[in-house]
Amino acid sequence: MFDNVCQHRAHQLVQGSGRKTTVTCPYHAWTYDLTGQLRAGPNIKSVPDFDPSCIRLTQVRSEAFLSFLFVKLDPEAAPMDEWFSNARKELEKWVPN
Ligand code: FES
Repeated sequence: MFDNVCQHRAHQLVQGSGRKTTVTCPYHAWTYDLTGQLRAGPNIKSVPDFDPSCIRLTQVRSEAFLSFLFVKLDPEAAPMDEWFSNARKELEKWVPN
């Protein structure tokens, strides 16, 4: 899972839903693969010392917890069971399935 933000000039990458094998930014057409790695862009080969292998989308951590998907914007965030130690037990009591 990645931030929906281009590493070039921070344009929003995608909207809506669908399936793709690459993501191309609508602003200047930088193209990323599904690992978040920059794969192509107009004129990037003509920029001296530009190394596309150093450009990746910002990864966002997530955790499935009792059928909820939590997005963790803090890369240092603890697992839900550690951060909210009683939450699993409490929620299972009210929503057992
Ligand atoms: S902002 Fe995405 S390619 Fe320029």
